[in-house]
Amino acid sequence: MRVILFGATGMVGQGVLRECLLDPEITQVACVGRSATSQRHEKGREIVLGNLADLSAVEDQLQGYDACFFCLGISSMGITEADYRRITYDLTLSAAKTLANLNPGMTFIYVSGAGTDSTERGRSMWARVKGETENALLRLPFKAAYLFRPGFIQPLHGVTSKTRAYRIMYAALWPLIPALKALLPRYVTTTEQLGRAMIQVAKQGAPQPVLESKDINDLQT
Ligand SMILES: NC(=O)c1ccc[n+]([C@@H]2O[C@H](COP(=O)([O-])OP(=O)(O)OC[C@H]3O[C@@H](n4cnc5c(N)ncnc54)[C@H](OP(=O)(O)O)[C@@H]3O)[C@@H](O)[C@H]2O)c1
Repeated sequence: MRVILFGATGMVGQGVLRECLLDPEITQVACVGRSATSQRHEKGREIVLGNLADLSAVEDQLQGYDACFFCLGISSMGITEADYRRITYDLTLSAAKTLANLNPGMTFIYVSGAGTDSTERGRSMWARVKGETENALLRLPFKAAYLFRPGFIQPLHGVTSKTRAYRIMYAALWPLIPALKALLPRYVTTTEQLGRAMIQVAKQGAPQPVLESKDINDLQT
């Protein structure tokens, strides 16, 4: 299986990349980003370009892939709806449309978040924009699209967030994670579980397009 990974330098993406490199059935992982990852592996390829909303310059390198794991995303904290939408909706849809045209047999997996608003009409700005993004992805002509909605994600194996506020939050919450897992098992997952679940869904599909934390954890064999 050949995989394209967006956001491989981020917390979720680092975890997904690790699992892809460990999976014997994945023969190639192309990391598309505005900066290269620090991983060097015989299966890994780096496609680096300044503006990921326009993939036209690298289209010839994006063909022949079976799955895309889209882990690129930003926090809505302290930014306007227009700026959040530019990355969350515009960039994601622009990349996804290009990939759907180039790879009609592709399975596309988008990392969204717990609480995403599929109605697109709720009061929470981030949840509305993520919901709109999810709904638009489901309309694209992929073989299949899946929407992963993790809640709290525990970073494992040295993975760290690119977002400073999240790094501070994880450091503060670290001693509480065992209690969090015990009290709220339906809302907690790990970067390892997320990566393995994405690979499993790319290989075998899932009964429904939206996967919450519990569904993600239940997929683990
Ligand atoms: N962390 C969590 O607990 C959590 C929970 C639920 C859902 N999620 C969702 O998971 C996704 C990834 O989150 P994360 O925690 O991995 O975030 P992160 O650590 O901040 O990483 C963000 C990733 O997106 C890339 N990126 C951001 N803006 C970009 C832009 N304008 N152009 C190109 N690349 C850009 C970053 O690339 P650079 O290295 O180039 O900056 C990085 O690879 C987000 O959509 C988030 O909402 C996260």
